[in-house]
Amino acid sequence: MKVGIFADPQYCSAEIICGTRYPRLSLGKVRQAYEQFSAENVDLTLCMGDMIDRCETHTQALQYLDELLSVIRDSRLPFIHVPGNHDYLDFSAEELEQHGLKTPPYVWEHSGIRFIVLDANYRSDMRRFDQAGVEWTDSNLPPEQVAFLSLALDEAEGPCVILVHESLDDRVEEHHIIKNAEEIRKVIRQSGKVKLVIQGHFHPGADNEIDGIRYLTVSAMCEGHDSRFLILNI
Ligand SMILES: [Fe+2]
Repeated sequence: MKVGIFADPQYCSAEIICGTRYPRLSLGKVRQAYEQFSAENVDLTLCMGDMIDRCETHTQALQYLDELLSVIRDSRLPFIHVPGNHDYLDFSAEELEQHGLKTPPYVWEHSGIRFIVLDANYRSDMRRFDQAGVEWTDSNLPPEQVAFLSLALDEAEGPCVILVHESLDDRVEEHHIIKNAEEIRKVIRQSGKVKLVIQGHFHPGADNEIDGIRYLTVSAMCEGHDSRFLILNI
């Protein structure tokens, strides 16, 4: 199956943030990505999180989200949004649900491949960012989701792909790594069913093999002027 993927558009009206991010360009970049996804007739499209950034008002946040979602919906391609820390800055999980963006954990299957969607936007005290306030350097996967992952892997009859915004790859910059990443990698390793883990959040991106499993971090779309997205044949 073919999967079209992009990460961290962080769309808003700001022209430039942090010297390298061009958030205003992201709407056009997402449009460009979906033109390509449609031309290649992909079976699934993925946003690895952080749809929008820096909104002064809630109305503005809703407007940016709607603009992105209308491009995505016009394509009529299946879409999974993996929530990121920025998404919980402006929206609660309930509001994201109202916009059709499902709250993890859940499983999505296609062509015998099981996608397991996780949400590590939880503080060390296991309160989700939308309730506790966002602390992007304190990302954790709560025990219920570790148990969900373990069961979803046990019950899988075919190969599995793990989707999560923050990093399970211990070779990226430390603040981007989920605090209990080692425990989660162990569950993934022991299942023997996972060949690929897809993540966002760490803007430069990365592509590392750990325990024979590919840990792919998709480079952030908001960085630079070029449109960063990819189509994977899984
Ligand atoms: Fe992020």
